[in-house]
Amino acid sequence: MTTYTTTPIFYANGEPHLGHVYSGILADIFHRYRRLIGQPNVLITGTDEHGKKIALAAEAHQRDIHSFVDEKAKAFSDLWESFSITPDVFVRTTDVEHKAKIREIWSRLVNKGDIFLGSYSGEYCVACEQFYSERELNNKRCPVHGKEVETVEEATYLFRLENYRQSLLTFYRDNPDFITPRHFQESLIEQLEIGELEDLSVSRVNNSWGVNVPGDVHTVYVWIDALFSYITAIERSGGSQQDIAETVHVLGKDILKFHAIIWPAFLLALDLPLPKKLVVHSWWTIEGKKISKSNPETTVNPRVFSDKLTSDGLRYAFTRQKPLSRDGNVSIVDFIELVNADLANSFANLVKRNNTLIQKHFNGELPKWESILNDDQCKALFETSLEVLNDIRQAYEAFSPYEVTVRCKQLVDDVNSFFHCRQPWLINKGLEHQHVAATCFVVANIVRQVAIAVSPITPELSASVLSEFGEKLDDTCWETLSLDENIRLTSVNSHFKRV
Ligand code: MSP
Repeated sequence: MTTYTTTPIFYANGEPHLGHVYSGILADIFHRYRRLIGQPNVLITGTDEHGKKIALAAEAHQRDIHSFVDEKAKAFSDLWESFSITPDVFVRTTDVEHKAKIREIWSRLVNKGDIFLGSYSGEYCVACEQFYSERELNNKRCPVHGKEVETVEEATYLFRLENYRQSLLTFYRDNPDFITPRHFQESLIEQLEIGELEDLSVSRVNNSWGVNVPGDVHTVYVWIDALFSYITAIERSGGSQQDIAETVHVLGKDILKFHAIIWPAFLLALDLPLPKKLVVHSWWTIEGKKISKSNPETTVNPRVFSDKLTSDGLRYAFTRQKPLSRDGNVSIVDFIELVNADLANSFANLVKRNNTLIQKHFNGELPKWESILNDDQCKALFETSLEVLNDIRQAYEAFSPYEVTVRCKQLVDDVNSFFHCRQPWLINKGLEHQHVAATCFVVANIVRQVAIAVSPITPELSASVLSEFGEKLDDTCWETLSLDENIRLTSVNSHFKRV
């Protein structure tokens, strides 16, 4: 069965920054994991191109809006390659097929009586493209960007969110793991319990840059336009609207409400299934400030980081440095230290030292040694490894890539201790040949498994290690490998240079 992983679609009003790349890398890790266990998975990303925020950005640059969004969409679609990400679908909200879909969905909602014409007055933040109640504002400023909100009073179509509040509450109580990490779901339930949800304004009269409401001068609210791009993309990849049930959405905590209240309410209104899961991540900051377009000193070009650390290095540092639930500060110095310690020194160096011994003393080949069954140290390490590898699988299933790296690190440390304690390099100094062969055999088998296990996070490093064992990552399925494979090396290389 095909499953789907999505990133949020990115606003086409500026250049990509590291925060965007983080959403993309996380989605790619989950996507790669599913494929690694033999499940077809479609990776979806794209750009959010309508709305006042984008129109104002084009105007500020004195640009024709069409060529402006084309350029920004290209910046995002060209971005991913530098981070080893190959999306299967890149959807743009200005795509003709998407606009037709939005109009069709709109008409279905109007026919069902969920959308009606009314008027709305409230405080609107253009940067967030949403209304805020007085209670949510800090001194008339929006809680996310700190920008002054504008008072908007206009005719608008409204969607009665309150009609779906009870169904949503029941759904969340029945599915406590729908949103991960869990505390995001708990805070959402609290929000839903507070009381009635306000009607949601779902169209704008004073913004012509958007999908036209059929038969009216209004344009469709950009968040509705954006959220349904997930369905446009699923259908474009050959799936159906029902496949939303097989879809995992990756998103930042700033856009949780849209994905956890508004999106499911619309799906319920259309009698469509709800997504499989929302994976929510916190923010990266630079010197304590959230990386954001409105904060120019935080918007370093993300390629500077991948050039410095390599794509694998950045992917690993992003994953290893903090769990999804916590904000973290980007520090290139810390990232370099981490990547050198874990990838270069602990892992790649171990692979090289061990494989060099196998090449030199065993002609690159080690058949399964019955004798290791009688070697308690080898047996014990195999047993721990199986347990840890199993924990790593569980951590992927729980959408906790941080935990994956913690376990991998623990296993690599154990293998390093084993290697150092058994000193196989003393082979010419009286050590039993069999002791060395067993040591190298065990280490080779475990590092190969680690390479597979960590491949969703560090695909290039893993592919390099596996190719030395004569295997290709693309053809490798986690199910098919065990810890007692014969070893036949094709070559011995360095796999990760210190940064
Ligand atoms: N267009 C909407 C999403 C629509 S999805 C139907 C949007 N776009 S965005 O470009 O502002 O943000 C896209 C993603 O980048 C979000 O997941 C957001 O959380 C993430 N990040 C933006 N800044 C970030 C950090 N500083 N740190 C981590 N991720 C952050 O919202």
